[in-house]
Amino acid sequence: RDLPPTPQWGYQGMSPGPTLQAQRGEPLLVEWINALPQEHFLPIDHSIHGAEREKPAVRTVAHVHGARVPADSDGYPEDWFTPGHSALYHYPNGQDAATLWYHDHAMGITRLNLYAGLFGAYVMRDPHEQALGLPDGDCDLPLALCDRLVGKDGKLYYPVSDDPEAPWVSECNGNAILCNGKLFPYLEVEPRRYRLRLMNVANTRFFNLTLSNGQPLVQVASDQGLLAAPLPRKQVTLYPAERADVVVDFAGLDGKDIELRQQGDAILQFRVRDRGRRDTAAMPTALNTIERTPPATAVRDRVLTLGEMDDAGGRPTMMMLGGKHWSAPITEDPRQDSVEIWSLVNLTGDVHPVHLHLVRFQVLERRPFDLFAWNATRTLKYTGPAQPPPPEEMGWKDTVRADPGMVTRIITRFEGEPGRYVWHCHLLEHEDNEMMRPFLLR
Ligand code: C2O
Ligand code: CU
Ligand code: CU
Repeated sequence: RDLPPTPQWGYQGMSPGPTLQAQRGEPLLVEWINALPQEHFLPIDHSIHGAEREKPAVRTVAHVHGARVPADSDGYPEDWFTPGHSALYHYPNGQDAATLWYHDHAMGITRLNLYAGLFGAYVMRDPHEQALGLPDGDCDLPLALCDRLVGKDGKLYYPVSDDPEAPWVSECNGNAILCNGKLFPYLEVEPRRYRLRLMNVANTRFFNLTLSNGQPLVQVASDQGLLAAPLPRKQVTLYPAERADVVVDFAGLDGKDIELRQQGDAILQFRVRDRGRRDTAAMPTALNTIERTPPATAVRDRVLTLGEMDDAGGRPTMMMLGGKHWSAPITEDPRQDSVEIWSLVNLTGDVHPVHLHLVRFQVLERRPFDLFAWNATRTLKYTGPAQPPPPEEMGWKDTVRADPGMVTRIITRFEGEPGRYVWHCHLLEHEDNEMMRPFLLR
């Protein structure tokens, strides 16, 4: 309460930046202007990529996460620009309604730029969804959740490694959870239904979200839009970059205070106060038709490892994708409109939320495999049956949890304009340190 305001970076002077509203079929042009100061206020030179550049500069490039856009408007990490420069990006908006988000994607310092505040919501709407009568207007709220390490002086701290063998930190966990950039804010709501667009914009942390009164969060959408039907959930888990739209009904709770909680900690308080406005529409029983992409339509099944280490050449150890560094020649080169399966083989002990630019995908299965057999012979030996995705993963996704000890298999049709895009782990410390690869849509 007595703290001075926390210095942050933002878009239009705000973090989160202004919510960009998009309507399917109505393209948007956005000019992204780098008006940042010449110096970063966070330690800048601790990533592999940052260190490789002669002079680490304050740089940024904007990416709309989950949007199908031409390659030259996608925010390719090397398309960054320095203060005083700008880029004009074209967003066709030819895709289904979904909660997307925009954020910095500059090579080597994405983790610092997001941490500094460079993110915001990008809400895509379409007529199909608008006809369903879900809560809208001021009852439709994007909620960007993240954690930060805040010092007693009210300033943001980013952890620094003191290990010369590993100059970067592999994770960044804060002591404060922020909701739309605020510490435990409250919101006055009416006793009616609200749509909350929950977005995990944190560097590393995952969220296990619940309501303090035990009421379910009724999930209506995942990363890439509406689920087939509303799904009541006691708890919603989100890994970095995942989204879940939930409907919460405050009817009958007039005068009460309800908290949104992360593992028991309150992160947002709803104060239910009756102002006489009522819900008119009922919750639809069906939301969307989601056709499952048959695995037999895939022209290719790429086996891609997560977290293979490179200890060679005295370089610090780092995790890679498909056993390759960022700068290695492109190996993932799907053909336009072809269907592919990507089998993500997690060789580490941790979860990696894997994100593909450009496309939406479906989760096929997760299946345990024998790590020793893989290391010895580089062959996949499954040790148990395939596990189908849970109901919340039966909709369209753009970021998937790759669990340790598992092969996570996804299927996608590579719709979009040919060009160079990226796929990466969305733990930002990993992304900035080799867990990102280009892919080429041919
Ligand atoms: Cu959220 Cu490569 O992005
Ligand atoms: Cu993205
Ligand atoms: Cu990772």
